[in-house]
Amino acid sequence: MKDILQELENRRAQARLGGGQRRIDAQHARGKLTARERIELLLDEDSFEEFDMFVAHRSTDFGMEADRPYGDGVVTGWGTINGRLVYVFSQDFTVFGGSLSETHAQKICKIMDMAMQNGAPVIGLNDSGGARIQEGVASLAGYADVFQRNIMASGVVPQISVIMGPCAGGAVYSPAMTDFIFMVKDTSYMFVTGPDVVKTVTNEVVTAEQLGGASTHTKKSSVADGAFEDDVEALTEIRRLFDFLPLNNRDKAPVRPFFDDPARIEESLDTLIPDNPNQPYDMKELIVKVADEGDFYEIQRDFAGNIITGFIRIEGRTVGVVANQPMVLAGCLDIDSSRKGARFVRFCDAFEIPILTFVDVPGFLPGTGQEYGGVIKHGAKLLFAYGEATVPKVTVITRKAYGGAYDVMASKHLRGDFNYAWPTAEIAVMGAKGAVEILYRSELGDADKIAARTKDYEDRFANPFVAAEKGFIDEVIRPHSTRKRVARAFASLRTKQLSNPWKKHDNIPL
Ligand code: HXC
Repeated sequence: MKDILQELENRRAQARLGGGQRRIDAQHARGKLTARERIELLLDEDSFEEFDMFVAHRSTDFGMEADRPYGDGVVTGWGTINGRLVYVFSQDFTVFGGSLSETHAQKICKIMDMAMQNGAPVIGLNDSGGARIQEGVASLAGYADVFQRNIMASGVVPQISVIMGPCAGGAVYSPAMTDFIFMVKDTSYMFVTGPDVVKTVTNEVVTAEQLGGASTHTKKSSVADGAFEDDVEALTEIRRLFDFLPLNNRDKAPVRPFFDDPARIEESLDTLIPDNPNQPYDMKELIVKVADEGDFYEIQRDFAGNIITGFIRIEGRTVGVVANQPMVLAGCLDIDSSRKGARFVRFCDAFEIPILTFVDVPGFLPGTGQEYGGVIKHGAKLLFAYGEATVPKVTVITRKAYGGAYDVMASKHLRGDFNYAWPTAEIAVMGAKGAVEILYRSELGDADKIAARTKDYEDRFANPFVAAEKGFIDEVIRPHSTRKRVARAFASLRTKQLSNPWKKHDNIPL
């Protein structure tokens, strides 16, 4: 018996070594942790239970039968994050560069199937050279099996991808279908084809960092939702995000203890809006002042800064926040901000997370760049996402709500449950200056007349009361009481029941 136990330990020790000490040292020398070290940091202490530690590939081409390391380049299993169940796979770059073989894929599929069956999220720690070149189509088939599961799991359990090394070819498409992608600065890359192929095909000379580094994907392409300094920060922040999320689409997000009075008054909000309507202010100040303990987890911070998206808690419960940011492009909607906002709203709706919308939007960004880029279709994404969402929706208009953008931003007309406005709100088809220039074109030469017309228009429309008269605004609230009003609104909506007509699925403009 003793010998058998010793044999088990020997085999386990061998499996834990992955591709060997030399490659582990190389991994560390690059500032990267190993697959197992990452899992240890991600999960609660001693909570990890491994599956398939002794799985080895079945390939016999290119002399592969002589090299069959345990685990086959991926560590899989389950554990807990702050006591809540999660399934994890962590690719081991020390084994064939973390490349995906038939058996490697089967290991990932097994935990994805378990996650679906048991209603728990999947977190993938990706560090892979893509398809296992020695295996050919078997590897491609393995990828497709993972893709199909990503698709089936979408909207059922949250899926989070962390890119912690190179991710080339097929390795990027599975993350692309998950809910969130995070990268590690300087050590992670994502591209469909690497710099060498790019050079051959298009003659472009580009570094891996320029082509698919964290900066590229968080600022330019918006493929990634955030980037972290190193592996440790990334894994710590994923734990933080996980706490905001429900385990599946039938579960509610966890309610955390809170030590912040839901009725807290914030006098400083009464002076947040500058006297000059064209002067920006920081919408994040409002978000942080409304949130429990000022805790805000921002998603896509470095992309389309004219809209802010992320999670807060109110009375310990997760709320998704979408807010126009007057500090960037005056907070207008454009292609990028519409896409960013729409994807976030849809995530919240899929996982029953209520949505809080702060509005200060002068309209859609005009111009050929936007029109040629399809702003009509992209803007419609946000409109569609808000309109189809059945979760509790609370909206606060702080200042401008002009034109189509007023409709889009969770207005009453898109089934907003509570639509509040601050007294500083201006709800109109457009700003007074633009309106007067169109309505009184013949008087444009007369500055006094135009000034009088502008004042007239402002008096009539640059306020929330016309909309309030019609019931489009439920109540004009004092800025300092925003947290209290919003908290009470969400509390009253906890039993909300609303469903859309039966359909196979909708046809959101993609
Ligand atoms: C098998 C691989 C591998 C792969 C790397 N290795 N990629 N083995 N299949 N795809 C092995 C290397 O042979 C090496 O083994 C070890 O992993 C580390 O690789 P290095 O090249 O030494 O490391 P590094 O210099 O850091 O470069 C990492 C890399 C590079 C950027 C990932 O290895 C690379 O470009 N690999 C190929 C990427 C690729 O073209 N993949 C196929 C994409 S096509 P030793 O024994 O020396 O440690 C694809 C199609 C799927 O994925 C489509 C589905 C839709």
